[in-house]
Amino acid sequence: MRFAIRRPFAIPLVILGLIVIIGVVVTFDYITLLFDSVNDNAIDFEVPATDKDTGQPVTSHPQLIPKILHQTWKNETVPEKWRAAQESCLQSHPDFEYKLWTDESARQFIADEYPWFLDTYDSYPFNIMRADAIRYFVLHHFGGIYIDLDEGCQSRLDPLLTYPAWVRQADPTGVSNSVMGSTPRHPFFMRVMLELKNYNFNWRVPYITVMYATGPLFLSVIWKQHKRWAVSDAEQVWILMPPEPGAAYFNDLHGSSWHEDDAKWIMYLGGHWLLFTVLGFVLAAVVGLTSYLVVRRVYYPRTSLNYKYLEYGE
Ligand SMILES: *[C@@H]1O[C@H](CO)[C@@H](O)[C@H](O)[C@H]1NC(C)=O
Repeated sequence: MRFAIRRPFAIPLVILGLIVIIGVVVTFDYITLLFDSVNDNAIDFEVPATDKDTGQPVTSHPQLIPKILHQTWKNETVPEKWRAAQESCLQSHPDFEYKLWTDESARQFIADEYPWFLDTYDSYPFNIMRADAIRYFVLHHFGGIYIDLDEGCQSRLDPLLTYPAWVRQADPTGVSNSVMGSTPRHPFFMRVMLELKNYNFNWRVPYITVMYATGPLFLSVIWKQHKRWAVSDAEQVWILMPPEPGAAYFNDLHGSSWHEDDAKWIMYLGGHWLLFTVLGFVLAAVVGLTSYLVVRRVYYPRTSLNYKYLEYGE
């Protein structure tokens, strides 16, 4: 007797196979985030030397990123609790241009420079999403260093100006968007900017929507995709490693730390892979059985006699 998959099983099997394949393709970049401990492009902390004549900091490599600091807040009045952090960056970098992006100036900037994005920008259900998006756009347009308002500066940022583009490593996986630097029109931020539109999906759960559509998880996924294609040094994204005691560019005051939980959520999924695998199989079994029953009903609505007859071949 020839081996053949019985007809009632064939269609559910194909459906199941497609579901699994689509599932893997859709989640591939997220899955790879679970296996990312090594960094080829790590930036280590460095204190710039001081020029004897001018007293200015000098770096061992040429400056690539323009001396601009970007921050965002809803209006010009920065809350008291973040003034110290803001001041620490301003005072240690008097030679940097400073841009505080407010709700109003940020929207105007998008309308003027990236009008194709304005609809998406306005469509975001949460302000934090606009705050996420604007930082990618200003880095693409002007270049410079973006710093979250709750991050203070501990030392001169000049060495960070010598890399074409960089982001900070997130704990425990992926990258964060709390501090980033870039030359104008860097291909990575170009990609990030263009992908924002594709990832603008409302998942109905606020936290998940923000995290997947504009936040660090979104950035991490685009970074993974970019890493696969970027080949030249200039196109690569460098990674600022977590600070060591006494050797840090920034000190985090944890004022708006809810974004930091994104990576923990991914690791939670990773840590409970057995549970999710079992759940996946249960779900697959339910889908498979249901479609089997449906198909059987549709194709063989009558008695089991007909069914047996088919089994033995005609
Ligand atoms: C900014 O917003 C705060 C509270 O939302 C308000 O108290 C303050 O006056 C605003 N500042 C400006 C310059 O409009």
